[in-house]
Amino acid sequence: MDYKTLARLASKARHYSHSPYSHFRVGSALLTSRGKVYTGCNVENSSYGLTICAERTALFKAVSEGATRFRALAIASDERGFTSPCGACRQVILDLAGNIDIVLSTRNGSIKVMKMLDLLPEPFTPQNPKSKKS
Ligand code: THU
Repeated sequence: MDYKTLARLASKARHYSHSPYSHFRVGSALLTSRGKVYTGCNVENSSYGLTICAERTALFKAVSEGATRFRALAIASDERGFTSPCGACRQVILDLAGNIDIVLSTRNGSIKVMKMLDLLPEPFTPQNPKSKKS
């Protein structure tokens, strides 16, 4: 699957965003090595700190259904510019998916592809081979 299509799926997923507090809708689409896609959106909570970002929703859905190898994660919001993953998500993405391609997109459909290690250089790396540089 090409990355423009993956970004479009992320953009569609943002319509399910539950964001009554921030009104900031985010969608994500995670492509596995086998070509399967898991989507996610941000799900906010009245106790704000319990909110989960779109990226982690997609990743946790995938991992909880047995997916282990990933190729790319696309992120979309309503912003004119690119929306980049928050610090917490960067650590989670690197831990679970390694140095995958991160596909940032704008609301007009432009994309920018980055490597995860460029977004989180010199990461905390526990004994998880997937977080090692590839
Ligand atoms: N959010 C995401 O879902 N992903 C990001 O990359 C940045 C932030 C969510 C969290 C919260 O629901 C809202 O956007 C505003 O921070």
